[in-house]
Amino acid sequence: MRTPVIAGNWKMYKTVNEALEYFTSFREKGEAEGVETVLCAPFVALPALVEAAKGSRIGIGAQNMHWEEEGAFTGEVGPSMLNAVGVPYVVIGHSERRTYFAETDEAVNKKTQSAISHDLVPIVCVGETLEEKEADRTQEVVREQVVKALAGLSSDEVTQVVLAYEPVWAIGSGKSATAEDAEEVIRFVRKTVADQYDQQVANDIRILYGGSVKPGNIDSFLEQPDIDGALVGGASLDADSFARLVEAAA
Ligand code: G3P
Repeated sequence: MRTPVIAGNWKMYKTVNEALEYFTSFREKGEAEGVETVLCAPFVALPALVEAAKGSRIGIGAQNMHWEEEGAFTGEVGPSMLNAVGVPYVVIGHSERRTYFAETDEAVNKKTQSAISHDLVPIVCVGETLEEKEADRTQEVVREQVVKALAGLSSDEVTQVVLAYEPVWAIGSGKSATAEDAEEVIRFVRKTVADQYDQQVANDIRILYGGSVKPGNIDSFLEQPDIDGALVGGASLDADSFARLVEAAA
């Protein structure tokens, strides 16, 4: 049995004070059993959130990291820095990073390997653009992203990764994929993992859907056999609405 994951990705929203205020109202509601709840916040809010989350079942995550231990990389944050703050999760390869910060599949792979070797759980994002979808290239694109992201990892390491299928056209657009379409791609991602590793690894790895998930549609995604939860942007910014998503998965 795979434990569902409901992960909020705040993106570039919330100051430290706003993050703490949110957490105070979310903490109790976000404590649902049987679900792994994660809040991925801007770097500057991480130390305060980790402190606030102590003793709770809510995990805190970063939204990016560099793969190198340290070095002359102005503006970057390395994996050991996240370890030192006590952050257990990190989002890697979000389409906004691929699009606006030129993050390649190779960089996504290095970050994923680095996260695993630093005991961080990488939430690795893949997904096709509207253009690719309309050209019927969804499976080809997603397959390539998954294979490249996981390259060089052992079977054991792959099961520690959480994958998130986020069709780029569904992000922040209010227009989610249908649950059936998301299931079809996610089943294909699972099959890709089975082909690359083995069926056991494919059975164990958690694969989330992301893209305009909200309280009104979360159930339809969670009902699908291959969808193990959601990576949520907009609807995670409000503590009540995010708590409803967590409850739906509990
Ligand atoms: O990483 C989550 C994300 O990109 C989806 O955003 O606002 O469509 O839920 P949103």
